[in-house]
Amino acid sequence: MSAKGNREHDLVVLGAGPGGYVAAIRAAQLGLSVGCIEKEPALGGTCLRVGCIPSKALLESSERFWEAKEKLSAHGIGFQELRLDLGVLLRRKDQVVSTLTRGVDALFKKNRVTRYQGHARLLGRGRVEVTGAADTVEVRGKNLLLATGSKPAPLPGVELDGERIVTSTEALSFSEVPKHLVVIGAGYIGLELGSVWARLGSKVTVLEYLDRILFGLDAEIAAEAKKIFEKQGLEFRLKSKVVAARVEGGQCRVEVEGQDPIVCDRVLLAVGRVPNTDHLGLENTNIELHRKGFIPVNAQFATNTDGIYAVGDVITGPMLAHKAEEEGMACVEGLVTGHGHVNYDAIAAVVYTHPEIASVGKTEEQLKAAGISYRKGLFPFRANGRARTLGQVEGWIAILAQEKTDRILGVHILGPHAGDLINEAATAIAFSASSEDLARTCHVHPTLGEALREAALAVSGRAIHS
Ligand code: NAI
Repeated sequence: MSAKGNREHDLVVLGAGPGGYVAAIRAAQLGLSVGCIEKEPALGGTCLRVGCIPSKALLESSERFWEAKEKLSAHGIGFQELRLDLGVLLRRKDQVVSTLTRGVDALFKKNRVTRYQGHARLLGRGRVEVTGAADTVEVRGKNLLLATGSKPAPLPGVELDGERIVTSTEALSFSEVPKHLVVIGAGYIGLELGSVWARLGSKVTVLEYLDRILFGLDAEIAAEAKKIFEKQGLEFRLKSKVVAARVEGGQCRVEVEGQDPIVCDRVLLAVGRVPNTDHLGLENTNIELHRKGFIPVNAQFATNTDGIYAVGDVITGPMLAHKAEEEGMACVEGLVTGHGHVNYDAIAAVVYTHPEIASVGKTEEQLKAAGISYRKGLFPFRANGRARTLGQVEGWIAILAQEKTDRILGVHILGPHAGDLINEAATAIAFSASSEDLARTCHVHPTLGEALREAALAVSGRAIHS
């Protein structure tokens, strides 16, 4: 227990992931006395410890390795021998993680957020029991914020053993490169971690229940991305429902409905995540979970129990770190100032494959289903000078603008640095910009951002370079 003395606060936050720690800091900035309870020794939650950050560190290292093998010769760069030291690669990832999680500790100190280490359980309104390694204490808060995040969803029949049949957490630290990795689920995690191990030398087979990958993202982009990933060596089996996986004689056996079983040496289960409300003491409140396990909240993130709020992966919506941050800030700003708002239309999503995939706002499928007329402007990266110099010309940008008003409703990108480019699109949507607004903004040459402007010009059929 790191806190001493007075354990009474204006706000007590349960969970120090992006939703919880950002809310704690923002509340402290606004003058509240804040306590934050986290069961893990390191702050930062899934995102910093075993999610976004370590996976991006591995994606970066594996991409460098793959580039050296496949791409550098085109630049006239050659070498005698290419070696992979997996130990160094994994240690680098761990260092990136520890630097960032320690950074959150420093931010807590700077903002005078009191940290409690242990498992938090609600005892009732304003009261939380914290069970740490050494003792159990009670912490009190005028308001409580639940930000306990999510955990990998299990799949009936798949027997996780933490070593051969694993979730994303363990797949960040395989001690050797798997010979044959079977990934269950062609979503964000399956494609990112599947890419990492494929680049490092694994044969990777991705089994997906649906008839497409990346359900929910633009269908044309997902189809094109699948072709690109296949060229990179990933094997996809769509319409493949995994019904069981277990370790047998040192190997893994994966059963797929109506197909021959697959024998491999590692399995990654990545079929989604579920809210984390285990042993949270909800029975001591009026909160009743939604049938999918989410905590129901109103537009101010208030639960049905006075003084208890919830944000991030434990409530509905996309399970994204930046969505949780946004909600955490809006929730405490609402508490203190009476104004706190999240514009869900402007929350982008990124898949950090190569090339990256990024998306904000509505897809064509959603606009068609809602009966909204739109115009589409499309610009391919092969016609962008900067993409040519990078040697990364796959993919395109699509902008969807409302037919009558020209307001931008959705932007979908497959291509180099899509994850950085999408922020401009999110800003445009946040400011209710039209495609004409983007088209009339001078973009620096030569940059990838020019492709976004060209896509905006293409909405009215006047792209210059295609
Ligand atoms: P996901 O929901 O993105 O994809 C899971 C996939 O598994 C779906 O396509 C589903 O059809 C498939 N599936 C379900 N049951 C199956 C079965 N029995 N056999 C074969 N396939 C089956 O879930 P994922 O990839 O686990 O990610 C979880 C969450 O984490 C996502 O909500 C995502 O938002 C978040 N995340 C975000 C990242 C980012 O922002 N870059 C990176 C990683 C995760």
